[in-house]
Amino acid sequence: MEFIKVTPNHQQHVALIELNRPKELNALNLQLMGELRDALKQLDDDDSVRAIVLTGNERAFAAGADIKQMAGKTAIDMFNIDQFSTWDQIKKTKKPIIAAVSGFALGGGCELAMTCDMIIASETAQFGQPEIKIGVMPGAGGTQRLTKALGKAKAMEMVLTGKFISAEEAEKHGLVNRVVPVELYLDEALKLAAEIAKMSPVAVKLAKESVNRSFETGLDEGLYFERKNFYMCFASEDQKEGMNAFVEKRAPQFTGK
Ligand code: CAA
Repeated sequence: MEFIKVTPNHQQHVALIELNRPKELNALNLQLMGELRDALKQLDDDDSVRAIVLTGNERAFAAGADIKQMAGKTAIDMFNIDQFSTWDQIKKTKKPIIAAVSGFALGGGCELAMTCDMIIASETAQFGQPEIKIGVMPGAGGTQRLTKALGKAKAMEMVLTGKFISAEEAEKHGLVNRVVPVELYLDEALKLAAEIAKMSPVAVKLAKESVNRSFETGLDEGLYFERKNFYMCFASEDQKEGMNAFVEKRAPQFTGK
């Protein structure tokens, strides 16, 4: 892997993925996104990993899709390359992914953070969809996920002007879980991942799937889906372990079985 670094912590069942094109502010070129897709697939298949943290560096989470790589392309090139198809793996990943964001999260960088399940932001984080300033528009979920998170008025203004919002504003609008000092944002994300990794991996995956389902369906269908997933938890040993541990007044030991 040239543009990402993967560090598993087997003891905590957490894996860290770092975007690693610092000179280009982690601009998301095709190779980087291909590597990210492959790493997520591997980690999703690895039973020793229960939660994933995705980060950049202090200056930039990611400043968007690689403009230099796209600049000369035709519409047919874009259609044939279909660069956003690699992004589907992020949505497909069953384990929770937490974005640890500092500095620029712009264009595809903002979209990448929003595709994750939660966002821990440093106080220097800036979120924006500046594609409009380079003659295009968001293409990897910005118009949809930003609107669902911020509401129409704010999202429309950001998408049509390219203006950034601060971490504080992002927190106010519910785009991020919380804002912490820059020296703490990665630790905070890893801590959150480790906390989730202590839960039943089966229940975590089913619960993540159910929360995400609420974005796709009406209430009745969502409730039905949730109920089925709740019942499905009873197929796991973790359900017996969790409930027995409660009754026996001891800490549960979840195995993912
Ligand atoms: N693509 C390619 N290269 C990028 C890049 C990007 N998205 N963002 C930054 N870089 C490169 C710069 O070209 C520069 O490289 P050189 O040193 O070789 O010139 C290097 O990273 C450092 O950037 P700057 O010198 O510009 O740093 P700055 O601090 O002055 O500005 C910035 C930072 C405001 C983030 C500015 O770099 C910027 O505006 N970047 C582009 C942001 C953008 O428009 N993103 C949307 C891209 S399109 C997209 O993402 C579509 C989609 O929906 C997926």
